[in-house]
Amino acid sequence: MTIRHRPTKNTVIFGAAAAWGLLLISCVAVNRTMLAPPFIAGATFVGNKECMECHEEKTGHFGSATHAKVTLADAKLGSTGCEACHGAGSLHVKAGGTKTTIVNPMKSPDTCFQCHLEKRGEFSLANSHGVLTGKMGCGDCHNPHEGNMVRGKGASMESANETCTTCHTAQKGPFTFKHNAMKEGCVSCHNPHGSVNQKMLVARDANLCLSCHLETATRSGIILAGGEDHRTRIQGGTCWSAGCHEAIHGSHASPALRY
Ligand code: HEC
Ligand code: HEC
Ligand code: HEC
Ligand code: HEC
Ligand code: HEC
Ligand code: HEC
Ligand code: HEC
Repeated sequence: MTIRHRPTKNTVIFGAAAAWGLLLISCVAVNRTMLAPPFIAGATFVGNKECMECHEEKTGHFGSATHAKVTLADAKLGSTGCEACHGAGSLHVKAGGTKTTIVNPMKSPDTCFQCHLEKRGEFSLANSHGVLTGKMGCGDCHNPHEGNMVRGKGASMESANETCTTCHTAQKGPFTFKHNAMKEGCVSCHNPHGSVNQKMLVARDANLCLSCHLETATRSGIILAGGEDHRTRIQGGTCWSAGCHEAIHGSHASPALRY
């Protein structure tokens, strides 16, 4: 082709399956629907090695990343894990690295939805983080370039509360009276992607709390939590209503988690 190609923002678009057909997908998860990687008009795949030349801070620990196993295997190229998310890199490499010749998934979650389509649904729910509106990116909570995707210091995403408390400082503590549920991570009560329930809670009523607090009752019909029968209390509203346990993340005033 001899048509001069001037790369603009619009040249980086999604969804062309044609170039994709040339490559084989070797993937750990066979039950995941694979669509095309981000499409960059006129570009071809070059392989991870090329990226290493200029982006050592991203390639250095990539071997430990979950997505390092999600590669487009091609005998001539070797592994192209970077390009699965960033699109084919030939034009970018040729230009010595320009923003208009490569996809940055932080600007649009579409790259991630190619393989995690069900997440688009979660982020469309009534209560969700503003990823679809561009206020946030998947990369605010996930680090695709290293380890098991955790941002922050926790060993697992489930317990990596630091990921959340960098933005949500009010829930960080330290509190005089801790709620030990926090040890199990914010995700024991919140779905960080989205939920039909207010505040992205995983349950809308007492079940949120009783999943951990339901004690074996000696008499049938009793709802025992914290050693006390909660039958009438539960009819009065949610457990985190005013006057009950409204300081649910931790309290400075009361061991019963009140303000
Ligand atoms: C010749 C050096 C070079 C190579 C090789 C290279 N890059 Fe880059 N890349 C750069 C430079 C320089 C920038 C910064 C551009 C800017 O800030 O304007 C960049 C920026 C990027 C960005 C950020 C774009 C944005 O919108 O912020 C991504 C993503 C990226 N490169 C991915 C890759 C991938 C994937 C490969 C391998 C296919 C690769 N690069 C190969 C030099 C290179
Ligand atoms: C699972 C998808 C995914 C894979 C695979 C992936 N990246 Fe990224 N990349 C992202 C996301 C999301 C961001 C934006 C968030 C961030 O900076 O961590 C990003 C950002 C970048 C940036 C820009 C960073 C900046 O400072 O703005 C570069 C450069 C980059 N990636 C290079 C690479 C290279 C090289 C590889 C392969 C070793 C790679 N990426 C593999 C998703 C991915
Ligand atoms: C080419 C397909 C593909 C793309 C693109 C992709 N993923 Fe994945 N992702 C996978 C597969 C396959 C797994 C393997 C785990 C599994 O079986 O679910 C995975 C796993 C994950 C996990 C779980 C990590 C773990 O260690 O358990 C997270 C989080 C994730 N991806 C986020 C992202 C984000 C964020 C993006 C966009 C920046 C992205 N993915 C882009 C295919 C992909
Ligand atoms: C507000 C923080 C946050 C944002 C933004 C976020 N995630 Fe997550 N994600 C998490 C946490 C925390 C977990 C671990 C959840 C768990 O273990 O219950 C997780 C788990 C995952 C998993 C693996 C487990 C699963 O549910 O399948 C995938 C895949 C994933 N995220 C994809 C994405 C994609 C794609 C985006 C962007 C469209 C994204 N995430 C944005 C916090 C976030
Ligand atoms: C990059 C900053 C950022 C990170 C990281 C982040 N959040 Fe958020 N969160 C927000 C913003 C901003 C909102 C307000 C809703 C919106 O506009 O997206 C919000 C809203 C919420 C809400 C609902 C509050 C309401 O009033 O409805 C909950 C609950 C929440 N986040 C929990 C979490 C959890 C759990 C994590 C970690 C897995 C997390 N957030 C990580 C920025 C962040
Ligand atoms: C034991 C369950 C539980 C755990 C664990 C938990 N939360 Fe919450 N969170 C709640 C409940 C219940 C609400 C609703 C409170 C209300 O509506 O007054 C809430 C509300 C929120 C809100 C909205 C605050 C507001 O003023 O509207 C944010 C933000 C939030 N949580 C972040 C977090 C973060 C970050 C973590 C982890 C560090 C976390 N939560 C852990 C139960 C929990
Ligand atoms: C992930 C498990 C888990 C969830 C969910 C959970 N908690 Fe807890 N909670 C604990 C643990 C662990 C303790 C500390 C051990 C204990 O005292 O039983 C605790 C302690 C408490 C205490 C202090 C009890 C005392 O006497 O010191 C109150 C009050 C409490 N939780 C209320 C709630 C409410 C209300 C909810 C729902 C919004 C809730 N918890 C959800 C695990 C959980």
